[in-house]
Order: sequence, then structure tokens, then C-alpha cells
Amino acid sequence: MTFNTIYRAMPLRFKTDTLELRPIELADLADLVQLANNKQLHDVLARMPHPYTSEDGLYFINDIANGTDERVWVICKRKGPMMGVVGIHLRDGQPELGYWLGAQYWGQGIGSQAIGALMDEFDIAAPQEELYARCLKTNIASKALLEKVGFEITGEDNSCGQHGGAPVWCFNRPARDDIYEQDAAE
Ligand SMILES: CC(C)(COP(=O)(O)OP(=O)(O)OC[C@H]1O[C@@H](n2cnc3c(N)ncnc32)[C@H](O)[C@@H]1OP(=O)(O)O)[C@@H](O)C(=O)NCCC(=O)NCCS
Repeated sequence: MTFNTIYRAMPLRFKTDTLELRPIELADLADLVQLANNKQLHDVLARMPHPYTSEDGLYFINDIANGTDERVWVICKRKGPMMGVVGIHLRDGQPELGYWLGAQYWGQGIGSQAIGALMDEFDIAAPQEELYARCLKTNIASKALLEKVGFEITGEDNSCGQHGGAPVWCFNRPARDDIYEQDAAE
């Protein structure tokens, strides 16, 4: 399955018990800039500039989120303003997960709910595909979240984009079909 096939197979929008995941729009620009202009986010993300300007937001909405190598969902309460972003992008030929919430939304179970639901959609859309993720070793919340939604540590390196050199956990989430096969064989 190519990335474009995964991209097309994933739903544009879907709901969880309390959240909605939907495409990002120009109307989100002000909320995006307000949430993303936070040094705490810059410090843990591979590619978020700081300060985060309207130009950065426009580039993200127009060229990255609506480009061809990435699918991005805004995380929000039903009909509420955006609280953060989750996306799957192509990195070195492999689909990789990335995500962040505005700081005021951390630690309330929102990330687990949104990304858990996204993983359910991914399993339906791409049951034969593995998914990859990375987080700084110091990012305890991100590591906990990844393990909660089915990722396993496969190694470590220092490939965190703008934080190159800092130690990073590398994760893999096995394909749903491989897990079924393994369970059946046991
Ligand atoms: C990482 C992030 C998306 C997690 O979302 P969240 O809504 O805050 O996380 P949740 O409340 O769903 O918690 C997920 C798990 O992390 C744990 N956790 C959350 N905050 C934590 C903290 N500050 N310290 C330790 N563990 C924490 C929770 O206990 C939970 O694990 P559990 O269910 O086993 O108890 C969010 O904190 C964030 O946006 N951080 C900054 C950006 C970032 O780190 N992105 C990922 C880069 S790799």
C-alpha cells in the first residue's frame, strides 16, 4: 500500500465520544498561531518554529497539511475551536505519526482519546501497514501515550529534526493483520 493509498483510505473527518477530528482550514489560522506559539511545544517537536507566526501557520495549512505527503486532522470538541493537531506524514518512505495539543489541554485524556480513535481508523484503512513514531526520551507524556495506543519501542537514535543530537525513542506500531495472525498462531 503506498502512502497515497493510505492517505485516500483514511476518513477526512470522524468523531469520538466527545471530540471531532476534521481537516484544518484557513479559519483555524488564528487559533493555530495562538496555540502553536509556545516554546514548550517547540522544545519537544521536531519541526515547530518559535516564535510561531501567521506566516508559519499559513505555510502549515496551505503547503503541509493540504500537501501530498501528509494528512492532518484538527482535534476539537464538537463544533469547538481547535485544541491541537494529529497527522500522519511520510518520512523516509514510511508513515509516521505526529501530534500536539495546546498546553492548556494537556493531561486531560484528550490526546489518548483522539489518537486512540485515529489508530482505530488507521487499522480499518490500512490493516497491513505498520506505523512509526518518535519522541524525545525526556517526553514522558508522549511515550506514555504512544504505548497506550499500541506502539512499541524498537530502538533509539538522535533524529529529532530541529533537536538533532537529543536522544529519541523510536517506536513501531505493528500492522493490525500481523497482530491477528500472531494471536491466531498462539
Ligand atoms: C503528548 C500529548 C499529545 C499527550 O496528550 P495528553 O492529552 O496530554 O495526554 P493524556 O492526558 O491522554 O495522557 C496520555 C498518557 O500520558 C500520561 N501523561 C500525561 N501527561 C503526563 C505528564 N506530564 N507526565 C507523565 N505522564 C503524563 C497520562 O498519565 C497517560 O497515561 P496513562 O493513561 O497510562 O495514565 C500532549 O501532552 C502534548 O501535546 N504535548 C506536547 C507536544 C508533544 O509532546 N507532542 C508529541 C511529540 S513526540
